[in-house]
Amino acid sequence: MNVRRLVVANWKMNKTAAETADYIDAFVVQLPSLPRDVEIVLAPPFTSICRAAAKREGSRVRLGAQTMHWELHGAFTGEISAPMLREFGVSHVILGHSERRAHCNETDRTVNLKVHTALEQSLIPIVAVGETLEQRRAGVTDDHVVAQTRAAFDGVDAGALAGVVIAYEPIWAIGTGENCEPAEANRVMATIRSSLQGLRETPILYGGSMNTGNVASYATQPDINGGLIGGASLDPDGFAQLIRSAASPP
Ligand code: PGA
Repeated sequence: MNVRRLVVANWKMNKTAAETADYIDAFVVQLPSLPRDVEIVLAPPFTSICRAAAKREGSRVRLGAQTMHWELHGAFTGEISAPMLREFGVSHVILGHSERRAHCNETDRTVNLKVHTALEQSLIPIVAVGETLEQRRAGVTDDHVVAQTRAAFDGVDAGALAGVVIAYEPIWAIGTGENCEPAEANRVMATIRSSLQGLRETPILYGGSMNTGNVASYATQPDINGGLIGGASLDPDGFAQLIRSAASPP
């Protein structure tokens, strides 16, 4: 199985456009020293996407958005559509992040609508799934992430699933410094992979307190194909170092 590898920086609500420009200037000079076989995606806030697009031009850095609406245009105050993202060369979109599920009414149903729109609009959806601490303690982690995965891709042809990305992010591990043990993350991710036909070659990323110190222990796991990184992606040197460590486990 030859699954492509990806490292995605989820900046969340961090960095102005000016800060984004400084970051990308500092980051692109490090690209020659980064492994070629790892795809690198930066997902800045919407207001920084235009500047990020100009700054990364000509480099192999790809651009992601942190969410989008499922409709292409219309009366949806505050929302952003797929064509608006594509205009700036955005290639990936994170959907169903637990913070958006918790605070912005994102549901399995709207994630599914967005997945269909993303695929129709040639955007690569990065669908986030993951359990709460209560669900983990209750022993329903696998059932929950499998249900989220099946709901997200309901109605999507198995043949299209090699072109999507899934991120397993245990909610209790996000931003807490309490990362999920790599072997346990791998086990859940293998369960996700076997939950639908067509996921054999789909990149599945781990997310949740991944950092330079622990990334290598994830990279060696067979069902982990990269990371969705929040806090540890905010510094360009640290993020570059994390990508190096992801590619060359000790
Ligand atoms: P974290 O966030 O790396 O800061 O834990 C990951 C995420 O929420 O995507």
